Amino acid sequence: MRLSFSRVVLVLGLSATSLAGVSVQKSGLSVPKQYASRRDQVKDMFKSSYGAYMKYAFPHDDLAPSSTGFWDFTHQWGASVIDAMPTMYIMGLNDLFNDAVKFAASVDFTQSKTGDTVNVFDTTIRFLGPLLSSYELSNFKHPVLLAKAKQSADKLVHAWVGDNPIPYSFLNFTTNQPTNGTSNIAEAGTLLLEWSRLSKYTLNPKYVNLATKAMKHIANLPAPLPGLAAQVIDPATGNFVGGYVSWGSESDSYFEYLIKYARLSNTWDSIYIDTWKTAVDSSIRSLLKKSTVGNHTYLADLDDEGRVLHIGSHLACFHAGNWIYGGKLVQNQTIVNYGLELMEGCWNTYASTTAGIGPERFAYASPDGNFTGEGDPAPTAEQLAFYEKHGFYQTIGFYVLRPEVLESNFYAWRATGDTKYLDRAGAAIDAFNKYLLVPSGGYAGLNDVMNPGAGYWDIADSFWYAETLKYLYLTFDDPKHISLDNYVFNTECSPFKAPPALLSYKGSGGWLPWKPWKVWPTHGEVPAATVSGVPREGRKW
Ligand SMILES: *[C@@H]1O[C@H](CO)[C@@H](O)[C@H](O)[C@H]1NC(C)=O
Ligand SMILES: *[C@@H]1O[C@H](CO)[C@@H](O)[C@H](O)[C@H]1NC(C)=O
Ligand SMILES: *[C@@H]1O[C@H](CO)[C@@H](O)[C@H](O)[C@H]1NC(C)=O
Ligand SMILES: *[C@@H]1O[C@H](CO)[C@@H](O)[C@H](O)[C@H]1NC(C)=O
Ligand SMILES: *[C@@H]1O[C@H](CO)[C@@H](O)[C@H](O)[C@H]1NC(C)=O
Repeated sequence: MRLSFSRVVLVLGLSATSLAGVSVQKSGLSVPKQYASRRDQVKDMFKSSYGAYMKYAFPHDDLAPSSTGFWDFTHQWGASVIDAMPTMYIMGLNDLFNDAVKFAASVDFTQSKTGDTVNVFDTTIRFLGPLLSSYELSNFKHPVLLAKAKQSADKLVHAWVGDNPIPYSFLNFTTNQPTNGTSNIAEAGTLLLEWSRLSKYTLNPKYVNLATKAMKHIANLPAPLPGLAAQVIDPATGNFVGGYVSWGSESDSYFEYLIKYARLSNTWDSIYIDTWKTAVDSSIRSLLKKSTVGNHTYLADLDDEGRVLHIGSHLACFHAGNWIYGGKLVQNQTIVNYGLELMEGCWNTYASTTAGIGPERFAYASPDGNFTGEGDPAPTAEQLAFYEKHGFYQTIGFYVLRPEVLESNFYAWRATGDTKYLDRAGAAIDAFNKYLLVPSGGYAGLNDVMNPGAGYWDIADSFWYAETLKYLYLTFDDPKHISLDNYVFNTECSPFKAPPALLSYKGSGGWLPWKPWKVWPTHGEVPAATVSGVPREGRKW
């Protein structure tokens, strides 16, 4: 048994804050004056696009910005309102925030108004996350936000059947019966930030224990590559199905939450950090690729047969920021540097297109080959010509208002202080205003970033307000506001207040056996009394 210094300090009961803990942000960082107007520009983009949503789509889930219609992808619970709440609070849009609180109080999260089955992961990240984040940000003044998060979770718990550690993906809210079928590690492994916060504020360990059970089960299963869990998992058996490995969709935020949960909880259990570090190490060995043109850095996928797929995606580009963040926490500059290289590769997909916005999916060749998947069409002459110039070629050209490249760009700025990241965020804002702004005042996606005239992608998903605009705003905001050293973001960019960072997240090899928490909260916090049935938060950090 080996105790790290920080853990000894905590055992002795000394305050971790009196020590120089690890920090993610570059110290003394400030946004130079010449960028000052950008922050307000993003706030105006929010007001304009949210105004269009309110005018044409409220209380439906999402605006169809180009046709001024609406969509209901999430049971008509007003996804755009709820998901945008922390953005409103952070931007100081108090009237909008207060209206949103009133609206949230009116939503019945126990019924799908659209009659379809409910996705556990989506509901967690788009509803529980922002409700709990807003509850914290507004200093616990609106207990109804906590009550609504609990109302929702008390339905979602039915996704865990019997002793299954892995929840089913979809639930029938009428019968509380899950839909049979496989799930994936992103769905089962992107619950822990939100469900642990819910336990913290309700003083009920049920939620965190369910989410922990799922996360640890995945981390403990034999993986195709060390630390790199397979994508598909069957809740009925608890086993992986196939061996597909990716940092992209359906796997992504499981890896994201390994390191973020370690930071948010300061847990004694080293499995999260150790698994994350092993995953990154394996990725560097097996998935990190340099393009034969331009020497760009990309992270490949691995297919069920263990073959490297030379592909990348907008979604996966969160990896750059995640490696920068985690590399800082575990104090490993090698990982930070790879994160910064991945950032360059992702930014290149923006800088190279006609719109100045990156495509949904792309491919490349590296010295070990250019296989992109069985049955994938060979690149056309046009794609090859593009590759020879830019070191990647797009395979799916739409842009659906996703945040990931700008999310990583935000981490890169806050960690390094290099103003090139501010310039890039500025370039993205200009591209959005030039190509995405439509007459309704909303912003629409594009069908093809190489051909902005080829029509709009007519869905303004709630992550536009929650993530894309919040990451842009924070990029130009005072770095002390919502500092990466004081907050951990859920995968939908809802910030949770974090305790003081430990001196080191290097991992101990696991010196305390994990047990489900009987007593909540864990070390460093004092449980609060419950006042007239409304749970109050514990000691504030
Ligand atoms: C949910 O279950 C009810 C009762 O069995 C059924 O009528 C309904 O069609 C189901 N909904 C979905 C979306 O499967
Ligand atoms: C799901 O599978 C279980 C057994 O594996 C079965 O008992 C149940 O009826 C199935 N449910 C549905 C809705 O198919
Ligand atoms: C930093 O991370 C790299 C990549 O995983 C690893 O090879 C190296 O050993 C790590 N350095 C330390 C000091 O742990
Ligand atoms: C390619 O980039 C790597 C860093 O990722 C660098 O070490 C190497 O020298 C570069 N190679 C060329 C040919 O520029
Ligand atoms: C991939 O390799 C094949 C066969 O060597 C070649 O014809 C093709 O042009 C390559 N594609 C790229 C993008 O390099």
